[in-house]
Amino acid sequence: MILAPSILAADLGRLADEIAAVERGGAGLVHVDVMDGRFVPNISLGPAVVEACRRATRLPIDVHLMIESAERHLDAFVDAGASSVNVHVEAVTHLQRALDHLRRRGVGAGVALNPSTPIGALEEILPEVDVVLVMSVNPGFAGQTFLPGSLDKIRRLRESIRARGLPARIQVDGGIHLGNIRAVVDAGADTIVSGAATFAGGDPAAAARALIEAAG
Ligand code: DX5
Ligand code: ZN
Repeated sequence: MILAPSILAADLGRLADEIAAVERGGAGLVHVDVMDGRFVPNISLGPAVVEACRRATRLPIDVHLMIESAERHLDAFVDAGASSVNVHVEAVTHLQRALDHLRRRGVGAGVALNPSTPIGALEEILPEVDVVLVMSVNPGFAGQTFLPGSLDKIRRLRESIRARGLPARIQVDGGIHLGNIRAVVDAGADTIVSGAATFAGGDPAAAARALIEAAG
């Protein structure tokens, strides 16, 4: 299991320290949530923050684009230092082209699914996806409550990937904490995004360690 702390919940005035802390705590990825106030209600971070993360750590930087017309902004995030970029299937019309572009630029290509989007939406594209980002909250804010129906969705996705012999990883994002991380991993997730559970308690290194331990 790889822990991917979301800096949306970090103290951005101390970004480099917050990232260093989760790195000490065993995090394997830094997750950056990008919101445009259109695809989701909130506005958050952009390429300049990805650049700041890139300077602060050697960990891979995973960008989650919760924006409309994401295909117009892929290069800006790759140029800023993203190691992988996730686009929402609900927000990109020519998904195959976007994923192909990311792969040609040498970064991981991910597809995110809102809670109400069925995994069948990936039927044709799954062989070309490095990671499926299963949203376990409606995207827009840190600190929301995990939607329990996500567990069955993760199980069905894991089974479909296995049955088709595909390499896609499963990353799960939203409302994950010490009390449910084990169930999410047992359902088939291999990468766990965590915002509030990592940063809200004031000791992100210890919180990251505890989450990794609780994941089993
Ligand atoms: C939700 C974001 C998540 C979120 C995770 O819109 O995509 O990455 O920040 O935060 P928690 O773990 O607090 O739900
Ligand atoms: Zn996210």
